Amino acid sequence: MQTIKLNNGIEMPILGYGVFQVSPQECERCVLDALSVGYRLIDTAQAYYNEEGVGNAIVKSEVPRSELFLTTKVWVTNAGEDKCARSIDESLRKLRTDYIDLLLIHQPFGDYPGTWRAMEKAVKTGKVRAIGLSNFYPDRFVDLAEYAEIKPAVNQLKTNVFSQQWDAEAEMIPYGTRMMAWAPLAQGNVDLQSDSRMTALAEKYQKTVQQIALRYLIQRDIIAIPKSAHLQRMEQNLDIFDFTLTPDDMAEIRLLDRPADFNSSHRNPNLVKFLLNYDKQFNPDANR
Ligand SMILES: NC(=O)c1ccc[n+]([C@@H]2O[C@H](COP(=O)([O-])OP(=O)(O)OC[C@H]3O[C@@H](n4cnc5c(N)ncnc54)[C@H](OP(=O)(O)O)[C@@H]3O)[C@@H](O)[C@H]2O)c1
Repeated sequence: MQTIKLNNGIEMPILGYGVFQVSPQECERCVLDALSVGYRLIDTAQAYYNEEGVGNAIVKSEVPRSELFLTTKVWVTNAGEDKCARSIDESLRKLRTDYIDLLLIHQPFGDYPGTWRAMEKAVKTGKVRAIGLSNFYPDRFVDLAEYAEIKPAVNQLKTNVFSQQWDAEAEMIPYGTRMMAWAPLAQGNVDLQSDSRMTALAEKYQKTVQQIALRYLIQRDIIAIPKSAHLQRMEQNLDIFDFTLTPDDMAEIRLLDRPADFNSSHRNPNLVKFLLNYDKQFNPDANR
């Protein structure tokens, strides 16, 4: 597996497997399947309520822990220095491991400076190897990155052929922060399957449009974590290292970028309220 070097010198796989919307019951089977076909980077989160499934799979699999790269994320209800510290211990317990490879702040809300301080401490005590952010738009990203003692290793953003994040990437470069793509397959958006540029490229390279979409990210040095519950698709999404898109084809895909949609923007107050209350459906006692 091709790796990418983070700003603290750690190498991580450039392609991994994400488990958002994989039920706790299904998660163990999915991660075991993903490991069996060759994934070594697994991306979960406290708010996916499936960290135990990931932990059970990594214990059951034959893959040595040192070959795995586990990412999880601190949810907003665990924001702040003390709560975050406790939640890291809880994630370690659920993941059945004594260290997390990459820990992210999931959303840029609540007392995230306090969360970051707890994460910096967790690096110093060896509970976490690298720390980063998720959904931090350029303004909040720079705000945190400027004062942080440990600069964010990654920022995980919605990044795919329709949402290319060029402006966000430009702000991350000075801090050596890597882009990590969530929704790298546009979450199954039918436009990906039907776009004429993408289907022409799929035909040219004898690949699927999903493989072209992932290859585009990898060639931009963007870490991608596609999710699939199906073994064949897991295999297909990994099979992108035997071809290279030409510079002209990269430029062609760049034309697919679309203006950001305010409804799904983390600057939309309605989305902020939705996210702040998100885990009440799983955990009615959660309070901040
Ligand atoms: N930081 C954040 O806020 C955030 C937000 C969302 C996601 N994430 C992370 O990013 C990961 C990926 O994002 P995502 O799961 O939202 O979306 P995604 O990976 O872009 O798309 C997943 C969808 O694509 C389908 N799919 C996968 N491979 C396919 C293939 N080869 N051909 C056709 N369809 C295919 C899947 O269906 P099947 O499962 O039926 O195959 C599923 O419906 C998540 O799992 C999670 O780890 C992070």
